[in-house]
Amino acid sequence: MTTELITGIRELTTQADDRARRHDAALVIEAGRILWIGPAARAPAAGLRTDVGGRALLPGWVDTHTHLVFAGDRAAEFEARMAGQAYAAGGINTTVAATRAATEEQLVATAARLRGEAAAQGTTFLETKTGYGLDLASETRSARAAASVADVVTFLGAHIVPPGIGRRDYLDLVTGSMLAAVAPHVQFIDAFCEVGAFDVEETREVLLAGRAAGLGLRVHGNQLGFSGGVRLAVELGAASVDHCNHLESADVDALAASDTVATLLPACDLSTRQPFPPARRLLDAGAHIALATNCNPGTSYTTSMPFCVATAVLQMGLTVEEAVWAATRGAARAVGREQGVDAVGSLRVGGRADLQVLDAPSVAHLAYRPGVPLTWGVWRQGVRVGRGSQPLPA
Ligand code: NIG
Repeated sequence: MTTELITGIRELTTQADDRARRHDAALVIEAGRILWIGPAARAPAAGLRTDVGGRALLPGWVDTHTHLVFAGDRAAEFEARMAGQAYAAGGINTTVAATRAATEEQLVATAARLRGEAAAQGTTFLETKTGYGLDLASETRSARAAASVADVVTFLGAHIVPPGIGRRDYLDLVTGSMLAAVAPHVQFIDAFCEVGAFDVEETREVLLAGRAAGLGLRVHGNQLGFSGGVRLAVELGAASVDHCNHLESADVDALAASDTVATLLPACDLSTRQPFPPARRLLDAGAHIALATNCNPGTSYTTSMPFCVATAVLQMGLTVEEAVWAATRGAARAVGREQGVDAVGSLRVGGRADLQVLDAPSVAHLAYRPGVPLTWGVWRQGVRVGRGSQPLPA
């Protein structure tokens, strides 16, 4: 069995026992897992030796909020928004129509292309959702398509009520035959709790049906206003409540006293011109946060976790270490994968070898050099998926 020694690591961030950055470290991979981590001077021999030339090594990004199963784009809507039009949930219908008209092969191809784009930027673990089919057949094939490209799949039948069906009938469909059809392909259920989508009681009904089917809970909450989604997510013990742009003190306190992760989506906030969530307040209060791309054609058409990390530092008041934690270990918590043999978002002996090397000596460069492609190499379960080039100058 081939072992690979990665050496020449100027700065190693493991996110395992602490957030410390170690210098002049080495790491050995075998059979997709990490066999050894320690000082370069004591590194064991291995069949394959990769010198990363003085670069920074850290866990691969964990992107826990994407909507990759769709067809079409909404560039015109985006341009109108940049010209002053407000974002509203109804734009989702444009993508629903295009998604219903696409074949399953086309949906898989688009999702796989975006997954590849994310991997090339250091993402080694990714969640994606249904939510642009919104009828029985289209949600079912969306769930299958999602499961073919993502590590974790979320059922978002409760994205909006699509045209041509009454609210009550649609809720019965989502919590009944649609849920039963997608259940074999998904691990979480989600609902968009917002004006123009679902209110708190409707969201509760959807989440409880998902829980009864054995699914974990997630909520799109407090994106466009004080929707009550955050408080409901905490009350029901959801793994994550995502967006969190509009928070009252009671929301912050509720999150801080809970295990529910507030997943923040900075690229979406820029693209919808929403105020950023109060990330600093959340952290200072003791809440858990994660960062994710929210890649989708409506509100956030990017797969770039480095962009989200840079924005969180430059615009949302996080330190570099806080942002990198939120995009790795903090994000792992948001999908229940922080601990155990299948943990992601951290590097530990015996754990998954999901890691990335930056074309930079330190993770600080992620925000210090915003917009510069800094992904030099990516290993997913020990297999290299990105290729580096020259050593960094000393
Ligand atoms: O997370 N907020 C709800 N759903 C997506 C956007 C959907 C869309 O506009 O297509 C989001 O931003």
